[in-house]
Amino acid sequence: MQFPIIGSSVLYLESCDSTNTELARISGNPDTMNGSVVLAFEQTAGKGQRGNIWKNEPHKDLTFSFLINKPDIRSEFVFYPLAATALGVYHFLSKRLPHKKVEIKWPNDVLVNGNKICGMLLENTFSGNQISKMIIGIGLNVNGKNYPDTRFPATSLVLEGEPETPPEDILLQLIPHLNAAFDKLRENPGFLLNAYNQVLFGKHHDVSIQEQDSITRARIERVDSKGILHLINQDGKKIEAGMGEIKFLPD
Ligand code: BTN
Repeated sequence: MQFPIIGSSVLYLESCDSTNTELARISGNPDTMNGSVVLAFEQTAGKGQRGNIWKNEPHKDLTFSFLINKPDIRSEFVFYPLAATALGVYHFLSKRLPHKKVEIKWPNDVLVNGNKICGMLLENTFSGNQISKMIIGIGLNVNGKNYPDTRFPATSLVLEGEPETPPEDILLQLIPHLNAAFDKLRENPGFLLNAYNQVLFGKHHDVSIQEQDSITRARIERVDSKGILHLINQDGKKIEAGMGEIKFLPD
């Protein structure tokens, strides 16, 4: 695995449709370096997971994407960079909010005391069985106070008692944590996966999950190197869920 230094170049945009889309557009330009970041103070068509819209008030929250070209990872291990990104955000937030419970909700949401503060969207390009390009977008709630009602209610740094901070300052504080997590992934992927599992929301607890039309209670066991979530239902039956195959329901 090989990764660039994230954030050695940062492009600040007043507004764009989506930082993921903008970065994809410029990723082929010779002056777009591997590891480049695009931050937008406003997104007019922010994208969430599963085709959802990601919306926030302009200038309040942090919305940015970074580029990883040719990471030398086989497509089946696409979960590793996702786990590294989630852990980087986790470490930043744990340091910033030392008295709060920060967890990663599989596969890539970050929760503070059970409320969602950060979401991520990976868009990958493959060449044969290799990942050729990854665009990793992060939406981190910083100064917002009003969010739409969602299954896991949203929170922000300000709602958690932090002072108002410009989103671009939060980016500069977050980048070293992302680079540290990617360094760890390069050195020891098993260690990184273990660290991810240690802070996994609901680990060894029963949670309600929705699989297509059926709702089940099951205990979360672990996430494996392919990003598969392993659970055990109340009859002792093992369940393996790929990314996007199940949804968690709040208790
Ligand atoms: C989710 O649904 O939880 C993922 C949200 C990802 C949002 C970020 S904001 C920056 C980047 N640009 C986008 O259009 N989406 C991601």
